[in-house]
Amino acid sequence: MQQSRLDSVHCPTIVLPPMERAKSEGEPVTEPPEGRLSVELVGPRVVLREPRLDDAPALLAAFGDPEVVRYMAIPVQTLETEQQYLKSAMAEAQRNPRREFHLAVALRASGAVIGMARISISSVEHLRGDVGYGIRRDLWNRGYTTEALTCLVNLASRSWACGA
Ligand SMILES: CC(C)(COP(=O)(O)OP(=O)(O)OC[C@H]1O[C@@H](n2cnc3c(N)ncnc32)[C@H](O)[C@@H]1OP(=O)(O)O)[C@@H](O)C(=O)NCCC(=O)NCCS
Repeated sequence: MQQSRLDSVHCPTIVLPPMERAKSEGEPVTEPPEGRLSVELVGPRVVLREPRLDDAPALLAAFGDPEVVRYMAIPVQTLETEQQYLKSAMAEAQRNPRREFHLAVALRASGAVIGMARISISSVEHLRGDVGYGIRRDLWNRGYTTEALTCLVNLASRSWACGA
């Protein structure tokens, strides 16, 4: 994806859960919220939210497709492997500080989950990390992943999100 395209995407907002939101009202968030960090990232057309176990069938529509996993380091997924993945992603979300954000990518208009996007922070000191993403093949080339990545970069730019 071209950097210029990424830059041109509307800046997303990060929606914090009620407790953290209350703390951050009126001023920028500069400290990590206490306890479990749960995020919702809102882009123009997509929302990245914490995954749930019942997202498995929707994710299967993406990662059960051989074309989608072709260049990924995972085999074609089954409902069972999707459920296992979701359980590990949800367990990862309990960590504090949290270095891995595996988020379901959903369409804002319908709430339908179309894939997953992840950012993993490997070095807080050097602001280093990597991202991964995949969405349903019938929805490729509409700019949804560009939006999702913009959300993830925005999240990583918050130092508290990286446990700094
Ligand atoms: C890689 C993948 C996630 C991209 O998803 P996508 O939603 O199609 O990506 P986008 O639509 O944002 O970008 C794809 C192209 O559409 C273009 N595009 C079309 N409409 C756009 C819009 N409205 N806004 C921004 N870009 C748009 C982008 O510029 C980009 O063009 P490019 O390939 O020439 O750079 C998807 O192909 C996929 O799931 N692949 C299988 C999994 C995979 O390989 N993942 C990567 C390894 S982890």
